[in-house]
Amino acid sequence: MVTKRKQQKKVVKTPILALKKAAVKKLAAAKTSVALDQWERDYLGRKGAIREVFQSLKELPEAKRKAVAQEANAVRTELVALFEKAQKKHGVGIAEKRALKTHTIDVTLPGVSTPVGHIHLVSRMIERVTDIFSSMGFDIVEGPDIESPYYNFDALNVPADHPSRDLWDTFWMQEAGEIGRAGRIANQNDSRRLLRTHTSPGQVRYMETHKPPFRMVVPGRTYRFENADRTHGFEFHQIEGMMVGPNISAANFKGILTVFFNTLFCDIQSAQGSKTNVTSEQIKVRLRPSFFPFTEPSFEVFMWFQGRWLEVMGAGMVHPEVYKHAGYSAGEIAKIQGFAFGGGIERLIMIKHQIPDMRLLYVGDLRVIRQFS
Ligand code: PHE
Repeated sequence: MVTKRKQQKKVVKTPILALKKAAVKKLAAAKTSVALDQWERDYLGRKGAIREVFQSLKELPEAKRKAVAQEANAVRTELVALFEKAQKKHGVGIAEKRALKTHTIDVTLPGVSTPVGHIHLVSRMIERVTDIFSSMGFDIVEGPDIESPYYNFDALNVPADHPSRDLWDTFWMQEAGEIGRAGRIANQNDSRRLLRTHTSPGQVRYMETHKPPFRMVVPGRTYRFENADRTHGFEFHQIEGMMVGPNISAANFKGILTVFFNTLFCDIQSAQGSKTNVTSEQIKVRLRPSFFPFTEPSFEVFMWFQGRWLEVMGAGMVHPEVYKHAGYSAGEIAKIQGFAFGGGIERLIMIKHQIPDMRLLYVGDLRVIRQFS
């Protein structure tokens, strides 16, 4: 009530013609865009004097209301015209129009959202796997995708007539020759290059510059001249690992892998635990005899996962020939032993996310990719 009475008083105190007179006088004095803006706010704006007059109309007796409204309207029209004239005179309107043309922002338009991508499943798995090994003290190193036959085969004790060297199993290219850092080369005439068929060349490359004890992993892309199917690609990824010291045993290997798999799959295990009755402690590792030229004995590694044994990698105790190729002396070799392993990254992804076909990881189909953001 108090405010209403105040407003009424104002109208009485400031009759419209007096208001107009004051407005015209002030407008004549406003000569800059700032001053004009201020004037517009004071008189024509949302909280300006004219608006106040209109708002106070309802306080007036009905008989008076119409006349006052008409008068106020007329004054308003006049003031608007005068204001526009003043704007033109001071060049304000034109400048403003120009500014509007160049920086128009329609704040009512819906925003443009920036799509946020995410790391590809393969990169994410490599990060996850290397994180776990790193937490167990393993170094993370990388090797070249384009290898010499020396590092890919000879240094790993793979004989010259091994089928994996066949033209039909490996991508070969022509380039200049290379000798291992330890000065050993099995076939001086083989100057070809190939796309590495496994990450195992990383074993010899690492040992050329590191002495035991050590533990390391080599993640990376590998290639085989192979027909692609559900579980094979001509391009895929592996994680190689190695741990060598005075008394590193196959039991250490089993222990480390058990920790690794349980860490890697613990979230699926706990999510599905109730369904399959598997708890995170229950991924078990089994080793079966196998053969690789660079390990002796060699193992096929299986893990017990959701009621099945799944083959997940190849492994074994590092063959003394491999130490020799890395440049270790007979005396050094006599004092060390260790394990090496290599497994497919895509296989781990397929198990983890229940993806039935590894080719889905590479076709770039957003319907697939977006499921894993
Ligand atoms: N390099 C082997 C493969 O690609 C796996 C392996 C690595 C086996 C290390 C033994 C030791 O199949």
